[in-house]
Amino acid sequence: MNKLSSQEIRSIIGYSDYSDLCIAAERDKRNVSQFIKFLLDRAIKDSNGIIAASDVTFKNSKVIPFNRWYPYIEGYSPDFVKSLIKKYSIKPGIIYDPFAGTGTTLFAADAMGNSTYYSEINPLLQFLIKAKLEVLKLAHNEWRIIGNDLMLLKTKLLKFNHKENTILDRNYKNVFKNSIYFPDYNYKEILQAKSFLESEDDSLSKNILTIAILSCLIPSSYLKKQGDLRFKTKKELEKKIPRFSELLCAKIDDIYNDLTNGNTTVSQVRHNHTLIHANAKCINEVSCDKISYVITSPPYLNGTNYIRNTKLELWFLGHLRTESDLRSFRDQILTSGINDVKVSNLLQIDIESKSLLLSQTMVSLKETAYDVRIPQMAECYFAEMFQIFSGLLPKLASGARLLIDIGDSVFNGVHIQTDDILIEILQNIGYKFVEKTKLRERRSRGGQTVTQVLIVMAN
Ligand SMILES: C[S@@+](CC[C@H](N)C(=O)[O-])C[C@H]1O[C@@H](n2cnc3c(N)ncnc32)[C@H](O)[C@@H]1O
Repeated sequence: MNKLSSQEIRSIIGYSDYSDLCIAAERDKRNVSQFIKFLLDRAIKDSNGIIAASDVTFKNSKVIPFNRWYPYIEGYSPDFVKSLIKKYSIKPGIIYDPFAGTGTTLFAADAMGNSTYYSEINPLLQFLIKAKLEVLKLAHNEWRIIGNDLMLLKTKLLKFNHKENTILDRNYKNVFKNSIYFPDYNYKEILQAKSFLESEDDSLSKNILTIAILSCLIPSSYLKKQGDLRFKTKKELEKKIPRFSELLCAKIDDIYNDLTNGNTTVSQVRHNHTLIHANAKCINEVSCDKISYVITSPPYLNGTNYIRNTKLELWFLGHLRTESDLRSFRDQILTSGINDVKVSNLLQIDIESKSLLLSQTMVSLKETAYDVRIPQMAECYFAEMFQIFSGLLPKLASGARLLIDIGDSVFNGVHIQTDDILIEILQNIGYKFVEKTKLRERRSRGGQTVTQVLIVMAN
């Protein structure tokens, strides 16, 4: 290691930016030097494996043009999906991702010759996927035109002589009440940016500008996304919150560079990608062609809250108008946090009878729960998984495979073996277990070591 330059070490560990490294180290509950040692150690171990652990998080995607337009750390990387397609010799056919996120499965599958179906409940992520598909469907020589259009929009927008958008302002007050998320100087610019967008005709460059705006909302606010969205600490606030317009300028310039620097490493989208139903829980209602493979990473139990974490972006896009809109999204997402639990939404499925391991875990969860919603959350999570994968079974072609990237968790001191419980539930539905591979170790919120695995099942 002593012979390596700092540039080489950065490239091996996959972080070029020191502040990103600090954030990731904190998230992993290690100090920076322990974290670097850990990453180096892992990279060495992984260099002989087919699936590199570094591929199973979004970290790699942060430096890939297009993926960096709106960094989304909850995703896995395109290389991970490509390595799965290679490892399991997936033939051209339809791949379904019920939890598409930013669409990593779609784009990687396309590059490997596959069409996809997908579900994604969050309208922000649906918007990002759609815009990215539109750009990547174009031939490389057309990107320059879009880039130039984007620069024209930038010049017009950055005059900031637009009216502050009163509807967006009203929605903010309805949804967020008295919470102050932005410094006044940024809030005004954001309201103006919304009016500007509304005054422009629909176009791809306008959608790209919208992405640039969306990705500047959190950085120009008092909030920080570190796992979950939270207020910045006093120390973090010592650094002045950057001006929204300055962040936006830099973001647009990055995007313009991606569009015009002749980068041909990003492949053109050539296949069809269809949102078959926003909500994976409704897959049983869809009529579609037979699905050959499912590649997905479902939300983790007690993991990130995908709606709350994107509330600023959902508000800007007009999807949050009243406080009840937040609740209505929470009712639709896969229940994975205690605040998602709503007793009236409990499915009429005796889920404990489908998995012995789950019924044993539920005993410990009920014994230790300080909040009645804790065992209900686990019950809902697995019942909804049962609902999704039961609905999926008749849609599969014969010889289909499910590749599910999932992690276990620890809640209130109780270890929930999500992966093994899910395997038992899937077997109960009628799927056959093929294999389970460990992808990496993680740290739970309480600091315990938990794992991330790939489950393979067949129909
Ligand atoms: C772990 S993320 C997937 C990340 C994705 N693999 C990527 O690389 O971007 C899980 C996703 O499931 C979505 N989700 C949660 N409940 C859903 C539901 N009922 N139907 C469809 N999508 C849902 C969340 O919005 C989130 O984007």
